[in-house]
Amino acid sequence: MAAFRLCVLILLAALTAATAQVRTNPDKPSDTLDKTFHQQRREQLRKQLPPRSVAVFFASPVRNRANDVDYYYHPDPDFYYLTGYKEPNAVLVLFSEPQSIDGKQTKELLFVQPNDPQYELWNGERLGVEGAASITGIATQPNTTFAAFKLDTASLQHILFKELPHDVRDATADQADLYSLLGQFRSKVKMPIGFDAQRNMLYNVVREQGASQPEEIKGYLSQMMQYYPALRQDRYLNDYLQSADARSRVKAVAATPKSKLDGHTLGQAMAGLREVKTEQELQLLRKAISISAQGQIEVMKAMHPKMSEMELQGIHEFVHKKYGAQHVGYPSIVGAGKNACVLHYIESKKPTVDSDLVLMDVGAEYKGYTADVTRTIPANGKFTKEQKEIYELVYKAQEAAFAACKVGNNFQAPHRAAEEVIANGLLKLGIIKDRSEVQRYFPHGTSHYLGLDVHDPGSYGAFKHNTVITVEPGIYIPGGSPCDKKWWNIGVRIEDDILITDKGWENLSKLAPRTVADLEKTMAQPSGLDNFILPEID
Ligand code: GLY
Ligand code: MN
Ligand code: MN
Repeated sequence: MAAFRLCVLILLAALTAATAQVRTNPDKPSDTLDKTFHQQRREQLRKQLPPRSVAVFFASPVRNRANDVDYYYHPDPDFYYLTGYKEPNAVLVLFSEPQSIDGKQTKELLFVQPNDPQYELWNGERLGVEGAASITGIATQPNTTFAAFKLDTASLQHILFKELPHDVRDATADQADLYSLLGQFRSKVKMPIGFDAQRNMLYNVVREQGASQPEEIKGYLSQMMQYYPALRQDRYLNDYLQSADARSRVKAVAATPKSKLDGHTLGQAMAGLREVKTEQELQLLRKAISISAQGQIEVMKAMHPKMSEMELQGIHEFVHKKYGAQHVGYPSIVGAGKNACVLHYIESKKPTVDSDLVLMDVGAEYKGYTADVTRTIPANGKFTKEQKEIYELVYKAQEAAFAACKVGNNFQAPHRAAEEVIANGLLKLGIIKDRSEVQRYFPHGTSHYLGLDVHDPGSYGAFKHNTVITVEPGIYIPGGSPCDKKWWNIGVRIEDDILITDKGWENLSKLAPRTVADLEKTMAQPSGLDNFILPEID
């Protein structure tokens, strides 16, 4: 283990020169999604579009940090999935059937920001119209032509889009920035002011099923109104809910507004597609996950009680970058002692991890795909009796959850299995007196999908072949909890990334040690960072 403390930024810069080269080439072509992947994804989506429909996607907004400095741009995952294009201020238009546009049969169009030498001098190269057409294979035009682009709304039956962002600033004079593009789209499709995609979806539900399944639909609407109080003011939904007999029901159904605009269905279709990974996506996910696991190993070897949370975070992220992972998929969580009991603790502000348990939930993002791996280890290399008891209970819960990762099982099956083990274990240790108290110490779900997003979209129904999920049970006992204080400030989460296929499940993060014995053994190993000692700076 190393004995040093230093600023993480200095560490990142200096170690690039100091450590051995990683023997990978992050740019090898097979490592990147190719044009065919995105083309095939568009074809799959098109198969799901209703006849005579158009699907319109917008690039995600540029977010401002302060003054003239923006946050690092994160492309919209759906836009990237369908095109491979990663720049802002773009629109993708997909038709269910080819349309005649400017005398040509066209089934898809891309509008992108054109080249701008002055902008590119400051901010780096843009692909431009030709570059975007070349990498996507889509008929591409400058985004400045979107305003004049004629969408034949009269011949279309469905105009599909994902819910439009309401918080995009009109920050530039550019007539084709996202703010302008959204405005042009709203006016093209004659979107009423205050159009509400969720209400519109509920009107469709009422119109399609309200007459034939009144009990179910009324129950569903009441539930939605509980979650979203603004819906309680809706005249049409209330009229339907209050309709007491078949005649008034039919009248209420007929009165619900009908619109071609649909800001709901497209999101669901994209979630269904992204839930099932292709082999190319799995290759990138495997890489992101292995990089993250190796980061965990390097930190296990380097950890020392005098290190800070920030320094440990820096080592994880440095290892990711060494392997060519451009970003983290979410803000890194590195928390010692009581900080380990805060589920999404991202401050990394404890100056020394001392002899605490350190929870490290860190995921490398590689070519857009993110890992999500958590290990919890004792800063001094040896679990205490209490730390070990809690750790082994979480481990047992995770094993039970793995066994429930089967094609056809309900998405909740791993959680139910993990919760059962943790409830029984906490009862046995005397930490809870009744099974119903389990959520006090295990307050989150066990799984989510993983992919371009850390919390990737999906159906949350039965598991399908080639789905990747996390399995991440945890026990968190903050100081002051109603149990013996010997348990206080122990927080443990173990999180692995699991591929579910017809053949069973595979732990993609198994490279990172997980048993108490393997963790203690790894922590006892020397680290390449042991002799990396920087001079004091006043
Ligand atoms: N890293 C966030 C999560 O585990 O869901
Ligand atoms: Mn997770
Ligand atoms: Mn996580």
